[in-house]
Amino acid sequence: MCGIVGIVGTGPVANRLHDALQRLEYRGYDSAGVATLEPDGTLVRRRAEGKLANLSARLEKDPLAGAIGIGHTRWATHGAPTEANAHPHMSASVAVVHNGIIENFAALRDELAATGYPARTETDTEIVTLSVTRELDRGATPGQAVAKVLPQLKGAFALAFLFRGFDDLLIAARQGSPLAIGHGRGEMFIGSDAFALAPFTAKITYLEEGDRAEIHRDGMTIFDVNGKPVDREQHLSAASALMVDKGNHRHFMSMEIDQQPEAVSHTLAHYLDMANNKVDLREQLPFDLAGPDRLTITACGTAFYAGLVAKYWFERYARLPVDVDVASEFRYREPPLEKGGVSLVISQSGETADTLAALRYARAAGQHVMAMVNVAESTIARESDVIFPTLCGPEIGVASTKAFTSQLAALGALVVAFGRARGHIKPRAEAKMVAALTGLPGALSEALKADGHIEAVARVLSRAGDVLYIGRGTAFPLALEGALKLKELSYIHAEAYPAGELKHGPIALIDEGMPVVVVATTDELMEKTISNMHEVAARGAKIILITDRQGAALAGNDVAEIIVVPRVDPFVAPIVNAVAVQLLAYHTAVHMGTDVDQPRNLAKSVTVE
Ligand code: F6R
Repeated sequence: MCGIVGIVGTGPVANRLHDALQRLEYRGYDSAGVATLEPDGTLVRRRAEGKLANLSARLEKDPLAGAIGIGHTRWATHGAPTEANAHPHMSASVAVVHNGIIENFAALRDELAATGYPARTETDTEIVTLSVTRELDRGATPGQAVAKVLPQLKGAFALAFLFRGFDDLLIAARQGSPLAIGHGRGEMFIGSDAFALAPFTAKITYLEEGDRAEIHRDGMTIFDVNGKPVDREQHLSAASALMVDKGNHRHFMSMEIDQQPEAVSHTLAHYLDMANNKVDLREQLPFDLAGPDRLTITACGTAFYAGLVAKYWFERYARLPVDVDVASEFRYREPPLEKGGVSLVISQSGETADTLAALRYARAAGQHVMAMVNVAESTIARESDVIFPTLCGPEIGVASTKAFTSQLAALGALVVAFGRARGHIKPRAEAKMVAALTGLPGALSEALKADGHIEAVARVLSRAGDVLYIGRGTAFPLALEGALKLKELSYIHAEAYPAGELKHGPIALIDEGMPVVVVATTDELMEKTISNMHEVAARGAKIILITDRQGAALAGNDVAEIIVVPRVDPFVAPIVNAVAVQLLAYHTAVHMGTDVDQPRNLAKSVTVE
């Protein structure tokens, strides 16, 4: 994930910006840069490809004297990791650093070029620089220029701005990617997280969704999404003691749920060539993607459900048959595996004992072993032939959230790569699927806005003894994931069934007032799921429907609650639906007062079978 820092200081800030960037190195990056407003009133930047040591050498050779500046570590999304594409992006009047993806950058780029502001790099960030420059040229103040441009940008991102002629002003804006503001003595700071700012201050204010802050040495004004000045609480951060800090969240789990737009965006940046709407696998594979005639996926728990979604995708889009199994069953079942075939194990921690054993079983059978892991130096990663990383940062909450959606995003990209190689996904279909993946960070940010409503809905669940989850197609694994999240966090008994299976037994469970969570977003199966929903409603169930606007319009009157998620391509719908089932379980557990981050009897890394 890209990292952002900023300082309105009292002496030269370039070296301090560099130090703060070092504390963001753990997020991963491939180039870096800083810009300051120099005493002669000009904006000057230094940038370097590769590690921060290169930037440091550049600064040593050509020091900067400015007492106000911004800095950035870049993880390339649009455009190669070159110095020319590194941030800050600058015109004579503004310098910009940016984290996240501006989805509509291509349309904005054309429009800017037509009005005399042509782009020179392949980045989406330059579009922001040019748009703000145009407003400044038209006579806007920095605050007005940023306020005018922000609503034109689609996607999930964080931004920081530095302006020529304003030696006491930084502007920061958040839409989907977190930003922390640090309060010093006669100085103020901006950081992607409190950890970056820990050497400077422990007093942190987190911007909320849609916020824009005008930051001066002696304080700041925050404007909400409607442009109204608002107060945001100041926290004392523990980040200096502990690398990962909860920020202004009550639990790690809620922080990790909120991090999903950024986590997914960072993961996708690894797999996609967004500028060309293509999947671009960086991994060297020891076999031809068109070769295998089946794929075996093994995993445990939530990672298994990610594998189950992937089965639907691989079979439908890539026409590749998939066997998917929980690792603890697979390893002892003695399944015949074809020598030279391909296995994929999925694990956040990379240490799960059963998944590791499944990997070793496949290897012993002579298979090529691929692993999707979040912890790059884990045992599973070390023992695999190919590592497909999820890049969602450390996951602390025991219940997996951002790792799940990042796994799904990465699996979605793999499906496209296999489908293309096997001749089942043509360029136009690939562009459509990649566009659906690229739109995810924005859609996830949108889905998170249902938080307040879901908290209220969760009251219904917190009074239940049993809850049923149903769905069809890829909504079925999401029903399973919803039920797992609810039981592990709230200790309420929950089960999930394919909606079409109800009549074969489970419908007998339904009695008056039993909550049934129905996952049904727009696809070719939605109407069938909705009719299954009416069948349980007619038997007294209290329906909580997770759907998009189109589904909500079809829902009818026998639905107790509707949780509306954004309408997306059905391909990526499970990733958006994940947010709703996670928040529902999270808030139910909070209402019930259970230990959300460390539920009873559970461990984050299950290294015993
Ligand atoms: C549930 C959960 C677990 C893990 C499972 C596998 O919320 O987190 O079900 O998904 O223990 O863990 P990893 O992915 O580390 O192999």
